[in-house]
Amino acid sequence: MLGENADAIRRKIGRAVEVVAVGVRDAGKPRGISGAPLTTDVEAIVDDSQVEVVLELIGGLDPALSLVERALAGGKHVVTANKELIAKHGARLTRIATDRGVELHFEAAVGGGIPLVQPLRHQLAGNDVLRLIGILNGTTNVILTRMADQGASFEEALEEAQALGYAEADPASDVDGTDAAYKISILGGIAFGRWPDVDQIFREGIRAVQREDIRFADILGYRIKLLAIAEPHGDRAIIRVHPALVRKDHPLASVSGVYNALWVHGDFVGDVMFSGRGAGSEPTASAVVGDLIDIGRGTAGGGFGSVEPIEDGLDVLPIEEIRTSYYVRLIVPDRPRVLGAIATAFGEQEVSLSAMEMRVYDQAAELGEIVLMTHACKEAHFRAAVDSLVPSGCVVRVCNWLRVES
Ligand SMILES: NC(=O)c1ccc[n+]([C@@H]2O[C@H](COP(=O)([O-])OP(=O)(O)OC[C@H]3O[C@@H](n4cnc5c(N)ncnc54)[C@H](OP(=O)(O)O)[C@@H]3O)[C@@H](O)[C@H]2O)c1
Repeated sequence: MLGENADAIRRKIGRAVEVVAVGVRDAGKPRGISGAPLTTDVEAIVDDSQVEVVLELIGGLDPALSLVERALAGGKHVVTANKELIAKHGARLTRIATDRGVELHFEAAVGGGIPLVQPLRHQLAGNDVLRLIGILNGTTNVILTRMADQGASFEEALEEAQALGYAEADPASDVDGTDAAYKISILGGIAFGRWPDVDQIFREGIRAVQREDIRFADILGYRIKLLAIAEPHGDRAIIRVHPALVRKDHPLASVSGVYNALWVHGDFVGDVMFSGRGAGSEPTASAVVGDLIDIGRGTAGGGFGSVEPIEDGLDVLPIEEIRTSYYVRLIVPDRPRVLGAIATAFGEQEVSLSAMEMRVYDQAAELGEIVLMTHACKEAHFRAAVDSLVPSGCVVRVCNWLRVES
């Protein structure tokens, strides 16, 4: 991108970008690029007095963290695509950048090619952000889309995504929600001006979503998506990542496959949605070069506007205390008074039901399959009601339950 679009980039900054050095692990590996001086001595890059901007695209914490710290402390601007680095150390690194009067940019760490950090830091900064809901992980969105479109199981859809290069050989960080938790942690930090502790963020992946859930959700007018949600709650915040039912008429429901999106609700702007390709080398390059251009304009023009002080210590509400609606799928004895007993078990925990679907599950064994939806209630109450169903004898098995977001 720096080579192909060099003229346009020079015009936009007001001066040319020169690649001083490219740090790699294996200098002998064929890379299909020319003119970039490769070196395995990455420390020499961050110490080089000629270098004004360091792009950190290594990933992980070691050696990325020490390199970024050293670059910032040495008065160099940094652009990184590293979500783990920013989610875990963003507050401290931002402080170092502010103290040294340099810039730390990380647009690619959150939405790949989708501009999310800059709009929240700039155009939307005058708003109180009341809610962020994101589909922030491409791998899980590909898997859930295949499960919905082809009736595949989670395992089949994951295998296909791996064969097509949409999922890593070790997909844990994506399918278990960690990648999305890093991203919503960063967005929540920017939106609310205080960084949360990423370990406090509730995360539940998509391994337990079954094709029956996707089918029942469809019948009830919903799609299942891995959502990353952040909202203020007094002086705390609700930040969570989990699969959820989304109404088909919500714009997020139609974000499919490799596409990612963030829906923002601000007090003055109302609803805004950003969507695009959340990963891949070209969209990621687009975000990294955009950040580089921003820094280049600052150095050429003599003024910056992007690093703002962000404190840490944003407390996140435990998941048991959130209020939302729920979907639950049950196997029940096909006999009178079962429905009443289930409604009573929920009612005893102050949970009221809003919709129901039922079908014969096993005629010979006289079993039915019931799907229930609840009105909004406290999660602790919902869990207590679900836990009481099998012991009460009115339910044979709780197959699955999921949160419902509106
Ligand atoms: N790929 C995406 O779509 C995407 C999207 C958004 C954000 N990101 C983020 O971008 C970062 C990189 O991801 P990636 O997918 O590009 O990873 P990658 O393909 O593994 O590339 C990592 C690069 O860093 C180099 N490297 C690793 N350890 C090094 C070390 N100790 N010293 C010097 N060089 C080292 C590697 O050199 P060699 O080539 O010699 O091994 C390689 O060129 C991660 O933080 C990731 O989360 C990626």
